[in-house]
Amino acid sequence: MYADRVLSGMRPTGRMHIGHYHGALKNWVKLQEEYECLYFAADWHALTTHFDASEIISESVWTMFVDWLAAGIKPTRATIFIQSRVPEHAELALLLGMIAPVGWLERVPTYKDQQQKLVDRDLSNFGFLGYPVMMSADILIYRANMVPVGEDQVSHIEVTRELARRFNHIYGREAGFEEKAKAAVKKLGSKKARRYEALRTAFQEQGDEAALEAAKVLLNETQNLALGDRERLFGYLAGSRRVILPEPQPLLTATPKVPGLDGQKMSKSYGNAILLREDPAEVTKKIRTMQTDPARVRRSDKGDPNRCPVWPLHQIYSDQATRDWVVAGCTTAGIGCLECKQPVIDAIIREQAPIHERAQRYLDDPQLVRNIVADGCERARKLAEETMREVREAMGLDYT
Ligand code: TRP
Ligand code: SF4
Repeated sequence: MYADRVLSGMRPTGRMHIGHYHGALKNWVKLQEEYECLYFAADWHALTTHFDASEIISESVWTMFVDWLAAGIKPTRATIFIQSRVPEHAELALLLGMIAPVGWLERVPTYKDQQQKLVDRDLSNFGFLGYPVMMSADILIYRANMVPVGEDQVSHIEVTRELARRFNHIYGREAGFEEKAKAAVKKLGSKKARRYEALRTAFQEQGDEAALEAAKVLLNETQNLALGDRERLFGYLAGSRRVILPEPQPLLTATPKVPGLDGQKMSKSYGNAILLREDPAEVTKKIRTMQTDPARVRRSDKGDPNRCPVWPLHQIYSDQATRDWVVAGCTTAGIGCLECKQPVIDAIIREQAPIHERAQRYLDDPQLVRNIVADGCERARKLAEETMREVREAMGLDYT
């Protein structure tokens, strides 16, 4: 809302696989060409479930960054950093915790789901309950408006939006708001001020959402506004409070579900993953031995692609002609499974060739990654500090 800014994070819990690539990284790479992007390793979030196995985090974090860079994240376009190296995230999480109703957190669907699913982990912790609060802090501290995430994270973004609204409602109050807002409108200059007023009226009197959006664009395009005035002008559009923490939107992209080698969800811990930087020989071996339609025991048995985990891979990697060939060949026993798998093997190896190539310089010189991330942490920290100054001031914590 302040200026288009994308933020997303990943928990460092192991090597990246092609599920991460198609589900997130490919999209991150695309977004960096269009927007200011911040991507981080959510090491504190990893601790909520792995507090007793923190060595996994430290082992994973640097290889995860190599994987990101290999996938095409450009340090010149995107800021990549580590959550715990920007301790302001924790300060904001603590402060948001003061206004986060426990009931909201207990009702987040992932809270109970994960407790039921991850039975081998102790999830009855304050930290795990607070997962969405910490995630809210991650997002709000950069005033990011777009958060690319998977479906499973949308409920967390919803909490983020509600916490931002609640924060602005409680702490965006100020004496003489109306007068200050009107004075800020004047500072826009007469032409812009008239347009702002017209759009605001259209929204407030007719509920015209497009006018609201247009007014936000107008404010974003206005460079020389003091931060306080900016917050007032955003807030004045819809209410009588400053907008200190703007509400973000989840950015859901149609991403294909990548099945694992056994047809289950791909996950390193299930041992069914094809890594993002897999050795070509290993790709071949894994796909050749992966499960197929269980009804197709012998070469002469007819199969059904819809019951075969290789089929979704064809949907990701193969063109229409190849897919037609698969359906025809499988259902008539015209082709064998190894024959059917070969185009997928070829496509994965082809896709990974430039990834291996890009990874090489970072593997040869690990210090390069350290430096990129150190720069990223520094840049992120500057942005975070700026928001925290505002937050402390709004909450009255800047007293002397
Ligand atoms: N919870 C996210 C996941 O598991 C990771 C994450 C942490 C995140 N903080 C974030 C994603 C902030 C987006 C924005 O995938
Ligand atoms: Fe699966 Fe292809 Fe074998 Fe059919 S021919 S069962 S789609 S691998």
